[in-house]
Amino acid sequence: MRKAIIFGVTGQDGSHLADLLLEKQYKVIGVARRSSVDTTERIIHTSGHPNFMLALCDITDVSSILQLLKEHDDVDEIYNLAAQSHVAVSFNQPGYTWDVTGKGCLNILQSMVDLGLTQARFYQASSSEMFGKNYDETESEKYQNEETKFLPQSPYAIAKCAAHYMVRLYREGYGIHASAGILFNHEGPRRGESFVTRKITKWVGDFIKYKKSVRKEYTLKVIETKFEEDRIVFECASTKEHLGSFPKLRLGNLEAFRDWGYAGDYVRGMWMMLQQDIPDDYVICTGETHTIKEFLDVAFNCVDIEDWSNFVVQDPQYYRPAEVDYLRGYNEKAKEKLGWRPETSFEELVKMMVDHDLKT
Ligand code: NAP
Ligand code: GDD
Repeated sequence: MRKAIIFGVTGQDGSHLADLLLEKQYKVIGVARRSSVDTTERIIHTSGHPNFMLALCDITDVSSILQLLKEHDDVDEIYNLAAQSHVAVSFNQPGYTWDVTGKGCLNILQSMVDLGLTQARFYQASSSEMFGKNYDETESEKYQNEETKFLPQSPYAIAKCAAHYMVRLYREGYGIHASAGILFNHEGPRRGESFVTRKITKWVGDFIKYKKSVRKEYTLKVIETKFEEDRIVFECASTKEHLGSFPKLRLGNLEAFRDWGYAGDYVRGMWMMLQQDIPDDYVICTGETHTIKEFLDVAFNCVDIEDWSNFVVQDPQYYRPAEVDYLRGYNEKAKEKLGWRPETSFEELVKMMVDHDLKT
């Protein structure tokens, strides 16, 4: 039975990857860090699975990595998905982001070298954020691929670049089978609630549920919707009695373009990279790009709201000191060499997330 270690198993991708590897009959060691609250919500369904084991370790603490790897020195595949992964947060906590997102990767690679774990294959979660402001251009299109130069725009992206170069160094310098997936944004119902896609779909779900609860409570009244500066107000059409209100959705920059795919599709790409004889770096993306406004269009359309402008407030607190304006990947290498392709369309992804947030 093949054995894999997943650093960051409690995160969105870690939980999807654990599902995939368990399906493939791996023994999975899922690594979580110590927390005062339960962080296993996304992997709760794996608890009790005979091939799944949870281990405690923090990637900023080398001794805890060494201890873990010594205990599992027969490991076949190591996936580093652990990170302080929020770009906006990285501007307020740059040093911490560096320690986790940048140095954490080095800590794992050097521990592998120190322990002589050269049989194990390593995956690093690199990011399209590394391209930052840069893209390549033909007459008809703008895109990023494996050859595009990095021009990072945040402490997070700079830490990811450092980790990415570290992977190449340990591959070439120490002969480790280390690959980096340059993944473009990927989302789904397990996405953290402060990333823009989930923030939108969660708001839509909560708003519709709230509206239904007002309708249920005031079944005999004709209800009118009024838009105030910060809130959506429900009142009785005839008496103007206040029946309830809901805060508007507060967002930052709506003009940025992102290449959004489904996380469940992307973890397949990670696994495929480690099945190759030769380690390498691959872009994983859909090849399509959409603005946040387009995401809003589709999300609100799912609940039959055609114009979302009255429901959204643009709030300067969500603007970043530096922005990544345009991300659109080119996935030919992953298609050709790995046989990977995305299976979920943009519209299917948004609908999947809205449907989930309407139910929960
Ligand atoms: P996520 O949901 O934020 O998960 C991050 C994981 O890292 C969580 O399990 C978190 O644990 C863990 N972690 C944080 N600090 C740690 C530490 N010091 N030691 C051990 N574990 C730690 O991120 P994701 O969306 O699944 O992304 C997975 C990886 O891919 C990240 O490295 C991210 O930067 C990268 N990436 C993501 C995307 C995307 O669009 N999702 C695109 C490109 C690259 P807690 O649960 O305790 O917080
Ligand atoms: N989070 C957030 N919240 N973003 C907002 C908001 C808001 O209220 N309003 C507008 N945005 C804009 C951001 O300014 C950015 O341009 C875009 O929405 C996407 O933001 P996020 O969803 O936070 O994702 P990200 O692109 O910054 O980073 C994600 O993708 C990277 C890959 O490109 C993260 O998952 C990173 O970990 C990942 O590496």
